[in-house]
Amino acid sequence: MGDAVFGVALTGGGTCAETTVLPARNTARVPASLSGAVAATLPVAGTTAVDVLDQLDLPPGAAALVNGVGGGVGLAVARLAVVRDLRVVGTGSAAEREHAESIGVRFVDYAAEDVAASAGEFVPGGFDGVVDLVGGSSLRLVASLAREPGDVVAVGDASVADLGGRFIQRRLDRENLRHAAELALDGALAP
Ligand SMILES: NC(=O)c1ccc[n+]([C@@H]2O[C@H](COP(=O)([O-])OP(=O)(O)OC[C@H]3O[C@@H](n4cnc5c(N)ncnc54)[C@H](OP(=O)(O)O)[C@@H]3O)[C@@H](O)[C@H]2O)c1
Repeated sequence: MGDAVFGVALTGGGTCAETTVLPARNTARVPASLSGAVAATLPVAGTTAVDVLDQLDLPPGAAALVNGVGGGVGLAVARLAVVRDLRVVGTGSAAEREHAESIGVRFVDYAAEDVAASAGEFVPGGFDGVVDLVGGSSLRLVASLAREPGDVVAVGDASVADLGGRFIQRRLDRENLRHAAELALDGALAP
């Protein structure tokens, strides 16, 4: 009783409230040395980043494209991918360039550049993995930059299956929450 916890709320339960109810299996203690603010970013952005990179399972040195790198999930994926020694190219809009580059991302401005041409300059032979956080026509464009259709994992658009890619498999259990908290304590996840 009385421990600070973080986790995933019941569908429809909501968390923008003074009190809420979380299923115990989807809840972990906040480690003493982790701030509540950082812990609050982990159930969605943090564990999603872990799940999508585990699903791609790329070896060190492989090239990954993160489509939508400036968002909450995209930055977490990029940071973790850099920690895993992947070569990371990310798409986003101009305001996101500086931060993305500061964490080691080779950045493509999707509004100002030809995404396929600019990404291809960074990684000429095609990407070993593509993480899509945008969906729709943007997903269709970046999916064509993967070496193989199955190397594409989409986080928000399940129609990726029509392209031969995969939709993210989520793990919302306590073990994954604890793992994300350890990565945050190590600095590998830093919102
Ligand atoms: N399946 C799951 O469990 C799960 C978990 C987490 C998130 N999601 C989904 O994943 C998606 C991303 O979540 P998020 O929290 O990271 O969202 P977010 O913070 O809103 O980030 C989305 C990013 O995409 C960028 N963007 C928009 N159009 C783009 C384009 N054509 N090319 C490149 N970048 C583009 C946006 O930049 P600008 O606004 O500057 O253009 C923004 O930075 C959402 O659809 C969300 O629902 C699913």
